[in-house]
Amino acid sequence: MKNITVIGSGTMGNGIAHVFAQHGYSVSLVDIAEEALKRALKTIAGNMDRQVAKSIITEDDKVNALNRIQTYTILADGVKDADLVIEAASENLNVKLNIFKELDALCKPNCILASNTSSISITKIASVTKRGDKVIGMHFMNPVPMMKLVEVICGYMTSDEVTNAIKALSIKIGKIPTEVNDYPGFISNRILIPMINEAIYSLYEGVAGVDEIDTVMRLGMAHPMGPLQLADFIGLDVVLSILNVLHDGFKNPKYAPCPLLVNMVTSNNLGKKTGSGFYKYTDGSKELRVADYFKKKSSAPIFASAMSL
Ligand code: NAI
Repeated sequence: MKNITVIGSGTMGNGIAHVFAQHGYSVSLVDIAEEALKRALKTIAGNMDRQVAKSIITEDDKVNALNRIQTYTILADGVKDADLVIEAASENLNVKLNIFKELDALCKPNCILASNTSSISITKIASVTKRGDKVIGMHFMNPVPMMKLVEVICGYMTSDEVTNAIKALSIKIGKIPTEVNDYPGFISNRILIPMINEAIYSLYEGVAGVDEIDTVMRLGMAHPMGPLQLADFIGLDVVLSILNVLHDGFKNPKYAPCPLLVNMVTSNNLGKKTGSGFYKYTDGSKELRVADYFKKKSSAPIFASAMSL
């Protein structure tokens, strides 16, 4: 595999393009928005500057890697030579199904089609193509240049040959592939997202405040950040949508989203990206401040006070 096409040049797409270009692959980056492509190239160059400053790569490596990236707004142009396409477009079922239908028609017959989806079934995505054996999940973690894991998700029809090729390729770009089967949430989000939901339930029921919950998990479990802060980073809308995938997929009430999470998403308190979630984010400040509404409520357990009405 020499020519890699990445579809979607947002947070994940630009990171995936960065890593492949850094490791000598020729990369075609495709997005429907010209602006997103410009932003992606700027982000990649900025991130590579940081790698140069830390002596991870040289200035020459950076220039060569950037020269290996071509950008396209027309899918057919961006995929014509692809040996592997990695789709990292928005997390929306119809968007992904349409992209894969088109890819199946446009790509070389032996081209492998991968998705970086964090929650949509690979088997479902593969079902709109005539090459189910060549459709696979390549779930990179954010930020892609720094995180080692690639969760390799085998759909119901994915062949062993394709799985092995993707695992070998992941190693070539400095990652550690881990193979899992295609069931809701795969492994990463099946375990992470219910843990976050449980942290939100603990807050909702007044067991502890935001700071206390995150401190227990950071200092007691050696997590680099607490589950509520992590939820703010991921985006509470994303957390809710993955919980809904787990709930719908398993039909098990243990995955029911906490009503507090639903309220926060409905009121657009989505975490870091909207400036407030469990914490408040002010421009330029590195200090984490618990959002005011939780400061008031954490001293009076929400659930207990509701019970006493
Ligand atoms: P994003 O919103 O930052 O970027 C998505 C990009 O896709 C946008 O630039 C948009 O213009 C483009 N796009 C939308 N429809 C398109 C189409 N039909 N053709 C080409 N480009 C199209 O999204 P992000 O966060 O990069 O997520 C991408 C995928 O990666 C999603 O499936 C998400 O679930 C998954 N993911 C996200 C992680 C994260 O931490 N953000 C972590 C792991 C996976």
